[in-house]
Amino acid sequence: MTDLHGQRILVAGGAGEVGEGITRQLLRAGATVIVPSRNADKLKKLAEWVGEDNDRLITIEGSIGTVEGAQTIRDSVGEINHVVASLGGWWQGKPIAEIELDVWHQVIDNSLTAHFITAKVFLPVLKDGGSYTLINGGAALHSMPNVAPIAVSASSQLKLGELMAVENPNLRINSLVLATPVLTRSRPTGQDGWLSADDAGRYCAYLASDAFSQTGKTIIFQSVDQIPA
Ligand SMILES: NC(=O)c1ccc[n+]([C@@H]2O[C@H](COP(=O)([O-])OP(=O)(O)OC[C@H]3O[C@@H](n4cnc5c(N)ncnc54)[C@H](OP(=O)(O)O)[C@@H]3O)[C@@H](O)[C@H]2O)c1
Repeated sequence: MTDLHGQRILVAGGAGEVGEGITRQLLRAGATVIVPSRNADKLKKLAEWVGEDNDRLITIEGSIGTVEGAQTIRDSVGEINHVVASLGGWWQGKPIAEIELDVWHQVIDNSLTAHFITAKVFLPVLKDGGSYTLINGGAALHSMPNVAPIAVSASSQLKLGELMAVENPNLRINSLVLATPVLTRSRPTGQDGWLSADDAGRYCAYLASDAFSQTGKTIIFQSVDQIPA
């Protein structure tokens, strides 16, 4: 098992569906995990759910989706060695011609812009050798009807990760694409082959560890069987 004792990891979106599995696995690997959320109740439930490891969980009520909010979070948490960003979520609604402009802005704000702000505020505090993992979904890869804002956001998020890696060669910056629906606390069962949030978390622990030295990669899992043991 990956050992992250002594490492301090920010999980942006760590109280979300996928983020809480990532948070739990990073704690199990020994890291100190910092999770911001706009919702205090979600943070309380997360701390209860992760159980005995929650003495290394630091929760902060605040919004990482605004520059001011992200800066306040950054200034209150001390040293951070790694970031995992699991922001956004899913959207499915209407064909392009019927999407209202405010809906477009809202989906892009909650996903792509939240990633941009997190990168803008936290990249400067990471030290040489630190890692930054952007969680993404199958919408980044596939085209289907009625998902334009989230698919455009997701594919642009891949480019954002590549650009972050090019601009910061001292860090290890990679995208992890979970290209199945993900099993989470609220959806514990599904079809054979679906990834779970805990699978994603174990792999995020590996990506943060010294065992993974690459940067600028897009790692795609389309089935749980593709995750290396
Ligand atoms: N769920 C799935 O089945 C699935 C499948 C494949 C890939 N993924 C990927 O996993 C990632 C996370 O998805 P999820 O399902 O876990 O989504 P989620 O449950 O909605 O959680 C998303 C997190 O993003 C944060 N967030 C959203 N908008 C924000 C904003 N404007 N400002 C600040 N924070 C904001 C939320 O923070 P607060 O706590 O402050 O609300 C929340 O914790 C996405 O990249 C998605 O593509 C998910």
